[in-house]
Amino acid sequence: MFLTLFLLVILLILYHQIRSFRYFSSRSVPGPHTSLFFGNLRQLWNCQSISRQLQLWTNKFGPIYGLYEGARQRVWIVSDVKFLEDVFIKQYSHFTSRKPIAIFLNPNEKYPSLLNAKTEKWKRQRKVMNTIFSTIKLKDLFPYMNSCVTHFLFKLSTTGSSDINIYTFYKRLTFDIICSCCYGLDTSSEEYYQKVEEIFAIDVTQSLWVKLTCLLGSTSFLSQLIEKLYRSQDDFKRFLNGKQNFFQFGEFPRYWIREKVREIVDLGIKSRDDDEKIDLVHLLLKATDKNFTQCCTKHSSFTLRLLPLIFLDDIVQADVYSLHYSLDLWGPTDPDVFYPDRHITQKSQSAFLGFGLGPRQCIGMRFAMSIIKLTLIRLLKKYTVVHSNKLEENWCLQDKRVITPQSCWIRLEARQ
Ligand code: HEM
Repeated sequence: MFLTLFLLVILLILYHQIRSFRYFSSRSVPGPHTSLFFGNLRQLWNCQSISRQLQLWTNKFGPIYGLYEGARQRVWIVSDVKFLEDVFIKQYSHFTSRKPIAIFLNPNEKYPSLLNAKTEKWKRQRKVMNTIFSTIKLKDLFPYMNSCVTHFLFKLSTTGSSDINIYTFYKRLTFDIICSCCYGLDTSSEEYYQKVEEIFAIDVTQSLWVKLTCLLGSTSFLSQLIEKLYRSQDDFKRFLNGKQNFFQFGEFPRYWIREKVREIVDLGIKSRDDDEKIDLVHLLLKATDKNFTQCCTKHSSFTLRLLPLIFLDDIVQADVYSLHYSLDLWGPTDPDVFYPDRHITQKSQSAFLGFGLGPRQCIGMRFAMSIIKLTLIRLLKKYTVVHSNKLEENWCLQDKRVITPQSCWIRLEARQ
């Protein structure tokens, strides 16, 4: 009797699994082969770069295909510009949420950040926060950006004419500007910088916790339990660190930084009448009386939207590499060739998704673009950038939460 029941349960699970993995094929949507329980997760976990893997599959299956992240999560991988414009812009009101990255970015938190907030909560937060990135507000922040760039140029001037890895200087500049403009900190401390480096060094997709929650479906009861366990680890470590001195457990850098940022934000709230000091926290507090200070503390690079059109909770994900290197969209000059003029005649607004698309695109885009332009103008006024022999031999792109080079070697020649 018991054995029969057991076999019946196994059969039911298998039936459910097989049925789940027929979702795309029953709609004639192509996709790579799946394995039981995992779907396509094992292929995604084992590849060198997820973005490159998506591009390879696009070459094989075309601009719209389907993936399964476990048996519960269906993902449409799209590089068809019309489809993307429909989802991201025209039918946008149906697709306001970003894919939950369980554990790290849970939209069901009491105070979700702007990045992971869903539907109405997101709309309310975004409306308030849009005001702090207006042209006038950005002008207020300009002197702070400018002084960080001056410091960046000074550091470059001390390197002489040797080959330099400019990427380390850019990272430091970005960090200084965020510290200065977002939190009103004069100069960034080494300790904070180290923690941020540690956070970005973690490959989220390879974390066992994330893998487990992906497998179980991010909204399932078991995933939520795993998430609670994950979060309580740090509290436990802190408790043990406080109880004894002979051995100290390292905290998660992410939680360390969050606590520190909270202290700074609390100081900002206390001194909110101080009009002399301009930072994003102050601008944010001026824009609203409600407590939105939980925002702006998290960041990720994914461009993912929920798609209720096909089935509630399906995800639509842009295959960014296929779009950015499409001959149709960026030709006739070979898309792999450095030819900036191709941007003059962009064939579609969704051909470049560096900052996303539509109402949920990057809120910091204009802020980031101001910094990039300011830095480039001041750098190129002073120096000519020369090719370094070390560039190619050390060039390697890493695809973790954002795609970044490991290093970028150049030489700077002072202009007369
Ligand atoms: C070169 C620099 C940057 C790049 C390439 C970038 C890229 C992106 C991308 C691709 C998204 C997802 C958009 C989508 O889902 O369609 C995003 C969202 C976001 N970015 Fe950025 N970003 C940059 C700088 C910044 C800065 C400086 C800030 C803040 C000061 C910022 C804050 C955010 C926030 C809060 C979101 C979520 C917006 C929302 O969900 O409403 N980003 N960014």
